[in-house]
Amino acid sequence: MFNSILNSMTFSQTTPEALSPGNRAADSDSRSTAPSQIAVYQARAITKVYHMGEVDVHALRGVDLDLFEGEFVVLLGPSGSGKSTLLNILGGLDVPSSGTVNYRGRDLTRDNDNLLTGYRRQHVGFVFQFYNLIPSLTARENVALVTEIATNPMRPEEALAMVGMQHRLDHFPAQLSGGEQQRVAIARAISKRPDVLLCDEPTGALDIQTGILVLEAIARVNQDLGTTTAVITHNAAISEMADRVVSVADGRIGNVRVNTIKRPPQELQW
Ligand SMILES: Nc1ncnc2c1ncn2[C@@H]1O[C@H](COP(=O)(O)OP(=O)(O)O)[C@@H](O)[C@H]1O
Ligand SMILES: [Mg+2]
Repeated sequence: MFNSILNSMTFSQTTPEALSPGNRAADSDSRSTAPSQIAVYQARAITKVYHMGEVDVHALRGVDLDLFEGEFVVLLGPSGSGKSTLLNILGGLDVPSSGTVNYRGRDLTRDNDNLLTGYRRQHVGFVFQFYNLIPSLTARENVALVTEIATNPMRPEEALAMVGMQHRLDHFPAQLSGGEQQRVAIARAISKRPDVLLCDEPTGALDIQTGILVLEAIARVNQDLGTTTAVITHNAAISEMADRVVSVADGRIGNVRVNTIKRPPQELQW
């Protein structure tokens, strides 16, 4: 019952009683707090067409997607299926060709560039496959770049401790491993206490062991701060740590699955 409701909820409205905390709590023992059913995003009929000279590339062909407060969602799909395009639209880095993106009652597709910049700065933390740290700044300074302009930031040391990097505060990126650099990038993304954390293939450049440490850091942020989290991957193993797995194929949402058991990152194998 619950699964079928959640499977259909990207396409239709759900009834409040069907998604009551009682029903929700029954579906997993592996987390201490069940995510709420307050929609953070409601994307409707999103399309994205890139015009490449004579050719139109249909990156998204009509996507309906809700993301709920506090949940951990994996967007799973093969390369080229439209995952990054979708995440970039949710994060206000890109705009759809048609459709609407409602973020907490605000239609992002009506916002101009300035408003979208403000939205990103205030509400969204991004993590990308490549860490994009500034080479001439230490870990602490890379995070401080964000905390200095945020409204209610953590201290950089606090953000770095959340991702297990408290012992590398004064290291430069070149003195850190790939996984450590990615954890600094996560600390930078979460230091402003964003409402949502959007991660595009965060372990794509990492080996398994290192990737697991990075996923643990993301899971901790989701759990401890309650940050609504979406992680893009083409790796099905990673989907086992999610509350919900949204499959993306050929610019469309396919199957949506609720994990009855969430696996901790250490138990993932790929
Ligand atoms: N800026 C762009 N210009 C033209 N085509 C693009 C652009 N970004 C993505 N695409 C195309 O849109 C499709 C979806 O891309 P993307 O969202 O990056 O997929 P994924 O993240 O799932 O690999 C692909 O065919 C890709 O080549
Ligand atoms: Mg991508």
